[in-house]
Amino acid sequence: MRKKIVAGNWKMNTTLSGGLALATEVTELLSKEQNVVADVVLCVPFTHLFAVGKLLEGKEKVFLGAQNAAAFVSGAFTGEVSPEMLTSVGAKYVILGHSERREKFGETNETLRKKVNLALDNGLIPIFCCGESLDTRQNEDFIGFVKHQLTESLFHLDEASFSKIIIAYEPIWAIGTGLTATPEQAQEMHLALRQHLASHYGDDVAANISILYGGSANAANAASLFAEPDVDGGLIGGASLKAADFLTVIKAAK
Ligand code: PGA
Repeated sequence: MRKKIVAGNWKMNTTLSGGLALATEVTELLSKEQNVVADVVLCVPFTHLFAVGKLLEGKEKVFLGAQNAAAFVSGAFTGEVSPEMLTSVGAKYVILGHSERREKFGETNETLRKKVNLALDNGLIPIFCCGESLDTRQNEDFIGFVKHQLTESLFHLDEASFSKIIIAYEPIWAIGTGLTATPEQAQEMHLALRQHLASHYGDDVAANISILYGGSANAANAASLFAEPDVDGGLIGGASLKAADFLTVIKAAK
């Protein structure tokens, strides 16, 4: 059975003290809940990883994640952070291919293929993001576009490696805009992606991959999105910065 996962993507928000306060609040709220089904991941800024990791030690079902990792092992790459460095401070997950990285930092499907390989080599679980722009949705075969992102960055992996991947479908037009995909739009894409995975890796592998939805998912709409059969949780930006809202989203994954 595939896992339900709710990952918070803090992006470039919070100072260290603010981030520690937020992580503390999330873990305290979670500790009072009996029936949380989802694994929770906090994808925090690089500067917070070590300290938040310490805070999460010994906590069940809450894991540490980074928001990016280098495509290189080590060496003369000023300003980059390698997957090995991330695991050395306790990260278990890493977001790769977020649309903000693709759009603002020029990451391509080819770059991401390298990043995925190196992250997996270092024991990190990639949360691999994909999704179309509004222009692509309105004017192109948008489902084909997203399938192609997966093909180019992931389909070289063998079955064992591929099985470790988490996919996050994040329509770019819904990220930070307050425009959410309807549950039907999310399900349409998630089902198409799962069928695409099945065409390459077979039904069993595809059935076990968690496909998260991201893009203005929040306390008010998470339950209806997560109720769709192929939506296995969420990658949550803005709503992960408020502990109470994030908890509501977490509890919506049943
Ligand atoms: P949002 O961000 O929930 O603020 O739209 C989601 C994301 O970019 O991962």
